Amino acid sequence: MNIRKNIITVAIDSPAAAGAGTQAKLISQYYNLMYLDTGKIYRLIGKLILKSKKKLTYKIIKKKIDKIKIKDLNSKSLLDDDVALSASKIAKNKKIRQFVKNFQKKCAYDPPLKYAGSVLDGRDITSVIMRQAMFKFYITANIKVRAERRFRELRKLKKKITLLDVEKSLKKRDYLDKNREHSPLKKTKDSILINTSKLSKKASFKKIKTIMDKKLKKIHGSI
Ligand code: C5P
Repeated sequence: MNIRKNIITVAIDSPAAAGAGTQAKLISQYYNLMYLDTGKIYRLIGKLILKSKKKLTYKIIKKKIDKIKIKDLNSKSLLDDDVALSASKIAKNKKIRQFVKNFQKKCAYDPPLKYAGSVLDGRDITSVIMRQAMFKFYITANIKVRAERRFRELRKLKKKITLLDVEKSLKKRDYLDKNREHSPLKKTKDSILINTSKLSKKASFKKIKTIMDKKLKKIHGSI
């Protein structure tokens, strides 16, 4: 794989609905970085398995994965809660994780030239996919805040679900994601913790920007 030199690389891990996607988007816009929401890849596979009438072989799944384009990840149907849970279930599979690794690494280390670098968010970005990232963040928030946020998002999309069901589903996914054998969600020692429970989007981004600008200034002299 080609590795572009002197690019800004940002790795983010977080439990679901902690605000990582929002912050990753803000980072990508401000620093002109390619953004990849890696959860969408697992959601795409989760949806494929959920909707398939017959049992899918690894060969078929790999073929689908090899054809994934960034625009496939924008489908609103990937936001459904049953798709999220299906994603969490298949994400523990080592072989499937291996299939999606190259796609993520290519986005991380060889983004299109129009970008100054990349920002990826997910569960194993700081620990597996972008171990050498220039910046590593672990973004979290308490479960009540996360459930409220996800509930509001799903309501906006007219999805029929109660706040209690959203909380239950998040807890279930937290458990699956943190306790699986391969690539469990964890805060690596070199990741900076950002707790967004009491922070607005703007305040969270300000905190991240301050950290990033300080290091970039050290590296480049100025930004
Ligand atoms: O981030 P999002 O909630 O969309 O992710 C859906 C599911 O995909 C997660 O609950 C997790 O099980 C899985 N995932 C993963 N590794 C990633 C990103 C997502 O296992 N890097």
